[in-house]
Amino acid sequence: MTADLFEDMDAVEPAQQALAPGAVLLRGFARGNDGVLLAALDSLLAAAPLRHLVTPGGHTMSVAMSNCGALGWVSDRRGYRYTAADPLSGRPWPAMPAVMRELAARAAQAAGFGGFAPDACLVNQYLPGSKLSLHQDRDEQDFSAPIVSLSLGLPAVFLFGTPERSERPQRYRLQHGDAVVWGGPARLAFHGVAPLADGEHALLGRRRINLTFRQAG
Ligand code: SIN
Ligand code: FE2
Repeated sequence: MTADLFEDMDAVEPAQQALAPGAVLLRGFARGNDGVLLAALDSLLAAAPLRHLVTPGGHTMSVAMSNCGALGWVSDRRGYRYTAADPLSGRPWPAMPAVMRELAARAAQAAGFGGFAPDACLVNQYLPGSKLSLHQDRDEQDFSAPIVSLSLGLPAVFLFGTPERSERPQRYRLQHGDAVVWGGPARLAFHGVAPLADGEHALLGRRRINLTFRQAG
């Protein structure tokens, strides 16, 4: 055995990895479109800037968020919900860029969920130390459509469990361009993100962006 066999473990990891029945990690899925994605992201964030939402319990989230699409996910002291307008500006959320909608639909298809037509995309920005506690995505009208997540920038440790809160989640390293799709029996799986480690990404600098696509309405 030589050391270079272990030099790049990612090179020997499969492109597709089943996380659970109904949940798939698609490595590098969006890497070829990252330039277009980041340009689209810049213009949508200029219209609907990232902001730190407050949870119903009064805690300010460490992840900064925005949205695009017909509906956007928000949280405040009154609860979690989807809105058609950005509460900061009163205007509709920016339209979902075609490149995002199409990549999300292709990722869903590759994971076995045809016909995914997201009407909501939550943009999450993590800086070193930002984290997202274990939660279920359950503010959508119906759970027949999957959730599609695309990751850009610094790598993160994604925690992915089952629909039972008491079960200890597995840990997966998500890198620039990776997609995760969970639906069917995994649709209500608990998931979260461990505190982001510091680093420098060639395109995004010291941050990670995650785009989470939902059929919310
Ligand atoms: C989320 O659950 O909304 C985001 C997950 C992630 O950042 O990977
Ligand atoms: Fe989530």
